Amino acid sequence: MASGHRAIPGPPPNPQDGNLADIAAAGGLHTFQLDLHERYGPVAEFHLPGTRVVSVADPELLVQTSRINRRPDELFEFLTPLFEAGNLQTLPEAEHVPWRRLLLTVLGNHRSHETQFAAFTRLTLAQAQRWAGCREVALQQDLSELSLRMICQYALGSELSSDEAARDTAAAFKGLLEEFIGRQYRLPSPYSDSERRARAEQALAQVRGTVTRILESAGGADRSDLVSMLAESDLSPARIRDSALVVMMAGYHTSGVAASWALYLLSQHPEIAARVHAELDRVLGDRPAPEYGQLGELEYLERVLKESMRRYPPGPYAARELVEDLELGEHLVPAGTTLMYPIWAIHLNPRHWPDPERFDPDRFLPGAARERPRFAFVPFGFGPRSCEGAALAMVEIKLMLAVLLKRFEFRLAPGHQVVPVERFVLWARDDIRMHLTPR
Ligand code: HEM
Repeated sequence: MASGHRAIPGPPPNPQDGNLADIAAAGGLHTFQLDLHERYGPVAEFHLPGTRVVSVADPELLVQTSRINRRPDELFEFLTPLFEAGNLQTLPEAEHVPWRRLLLTVLGNHRSHETQFAAFTRLTLAQAQRWAGCREVALQQDLSELSLRMICQYALGSELSSDEAARDTAAAFKGLLEEFIGRQYRLPSPYSDSERRARAEQALAQVRGTVTRILESAGGADRSDLVSMLAESDLSPARIRDSALVVMMAGYHTSGVAASWALYLLSQHPEIAARVHAELDRVLGDRPAPEYGQLGELEYLERVLKESMRRYPPGPYAARELVEDLELGEHLVPAGTTLMYPIWAIHLNPRHWPDPERFDPDRFLPGAARERPRFAFVPFGFGPRSCEGAALAMVEIKLMLAVLLKRFEFRLAPGHQVVPVERFVLWARDDIRMHLTPR
């Protein structure tokens, strides 16, 4: 330790497996990080096998890390077999920067959101219709399927000419990701190891085949789906297939899970739900869904969504790897260290969020937001690796919430316990079970 720098506090590691036992005892990395920062302050360290991790929950110190591009390979290694030309989530900076710039011209392009909005609305109305006859629904299962359908539509739209093709592609991708996440989190499976491998390979071939067909038919057509737009670029076909997969993976659970946590919080706060209903009735009138141009008028809904993502961030942490030493306040963190952004702990930091457990959408009134440090609220991460789908996700989630809240009132199923667990995203252990009443 260089003189003048303070050691970073943290729980003592076990020589064999670091703090894995502590992480398991806390119920996962997300809850472990909440305890870690409560006990050791805003900069704390812990150990994964063979890796020292420094976790930073102070938004002012985070600014000093905001130019770091590198992500640690190990955390994303389990997804490597999905990609042909390398995992885009851990691509070295020189390759990542131009790829990201290109992807943002598509994902961050409001015209492409607007063009796809009618299809997103159709998918959301169909979900509401499926729920119409149900007394009890599992929010996370149904809404992550809805966001999967939306992201398949966005990535592959032109190929998915029939509902059947859309269902098949979504089902293949769902099986594929469940398999990878299931292996990583050692979840039980009804299949043997060899059956699981064969099923995953078949699903991967199907998804890649779909992308390839779109690429082959894309020339000259004026299409707004991601693959057709990337076909105009100089990316190789393998990298385009990988880009489609990474976008489908990143957009699959996240948006649906975000909507489910918002509906859960609203079910616990009827007075806030009533304000949302009033805004929806005012802006939408008798129509079951907003127009694209009306999303901006749903200001209170947007505050509700932001506050929900603060309380339950769909991605509970992000990570970087230091390629050079970093001065972090009174600490020196050496090159090679893994940095964690404990998004959930940052969002519950009482210095910037008084009474942090309280659900209060007015924390996001424009004046109130200006008083906080920029990185006090980072559901989409920040810096050169921040979420490229943030703007699209906000469109999708506001649409889902607007349609579903216009049509139903949501009450938590009696006796149902909602326990957050981490499965790549912030999930609820036994889903979020709701009783629906038509409005
Ligand atoms: C509520 C919805 C979503 C949340 C909360 C979310 C959150 C995140 C977070 C926390 C990261 C890591 C950021 C970092 O390391 O600083 C990330 C990365 C990423 N997300 Fe999202 N995401 C959401 C939806 C989406 C959607 C819909 C897409 C695609 C359309 C998407 C595409 C990506 C991509 C491509 C990356 C990797 C960025 C890179 O390495 O350059 N996300 N997201």
